[in-house]
Amino acid sequence: MRIDIVTIFPGFFAGIFEHGVIRRALGEGLAKIDVHDLRAFTHDRHRTVDDRPFGGGEGMVLKPEPIAEALAALGIASRFERQDAIRAGISPQTGSMSRGTTLVAPQTPQFDSRALAPAGEGALQTRVILLSAQGRRFTQAIARELAALDRIVLVCGRYEGVDERINELYCDRELSIGDYVLSGGELAAAVVADAVLRLLPGVLGNEASREFESFGEEDAKIDSDVEGVPRSQHGAGGLLDYPHYTRPAEFSGLRVPEVLMNGDHAQIRRWRREQQLRKTLANRPDLLERAQLSTEDDKLLDQIRRERAEFDALH
Ligand code: ADE
Repeated sequence: MRIDIVTIFPGFFAGIFEHGVIRRALGEGLAKIDVHDLRAFTHDRHRTVDDRPFGGGEGMVLKPEPIAEALAALGIASRFERQDAIRAGISPQTGSMSRGTTLVAPQTPQFDSRALAPAGEGALQTRVILLSAQGRRFTQAIARELAALDRIVLVCGRYEGVDERINELYCDRELSIGDYVLSGGELAAAVVADAVLRLLPGVLGNEASREFESFGEEDAKIDSDVEGVPRSQHGAGGLLDYPHYTRPAEFSGLRVPEVLMNGDHAQIRRWRREQQLRKTLANRPDLLERAQLSTEDDKLLDQIRRERAEFDALH
């Protein structure tokens, strides 16, 4: 997987991918991240990347020309040219990049994303993504989709936005990481890169852990197991993850729930499922509408709702 980030603040990414599993993935050549300074694609003395909006209004807008030039230097043709090239069976990727490019350390020279291209398909599976508050909400499902590609190019919006023609001409997706407005797309790009990279095969030490976490694989898709715990009951299945505990067994007067220490895996499994339901009902009730729930889950939910109603009536 290759990730290119186009930004007016390349320094923002210094160090951000140098921790934990992401650092290891980059170090082992499982992925490569290049950060590109948009100002390197300007031609005036002031290295201007923005301008006033047509029609008036607040703030400034990122100009289209530097972004188009940066994308061209990355070998990214317009969406339409890429689609035509794929239909004609030729690779739309040409050129490489040197101006304004920073490699995110650590890197290894052995990386070649072409090795990851699906057999029989000449063109790399590439998507250009614009990060903006107006985008579709980024989810784990989208992270999984992106993780299956060879290359993603993340264009970081700034100021009031990016000239919409860039979106129209080059961007396959416009993504937002949540319903709030950031000062720019850089944090969002880092979030997307992290969420995607950790899904690549070999990045997580325990491959099972990404299946069993919140927003993990749906139950039906889970095929690995945790010792002694039946797999079909253990997936997040569209629910939030259950609470986790480690040693000490008592901390600040709070004991780890007894059920987790008695070794009865069926009981543990039931307790965890109930906790998933409780947490999801409390924090993300919207997820329950789409979650795959068993009859037992429905009964438990009814019971939890009754308990909550009784509690509310008393307080
Ligand atoms: N730029 C500003 N706000 C954003 C958000 N919520 N997600 C992605 N990019 C952004």
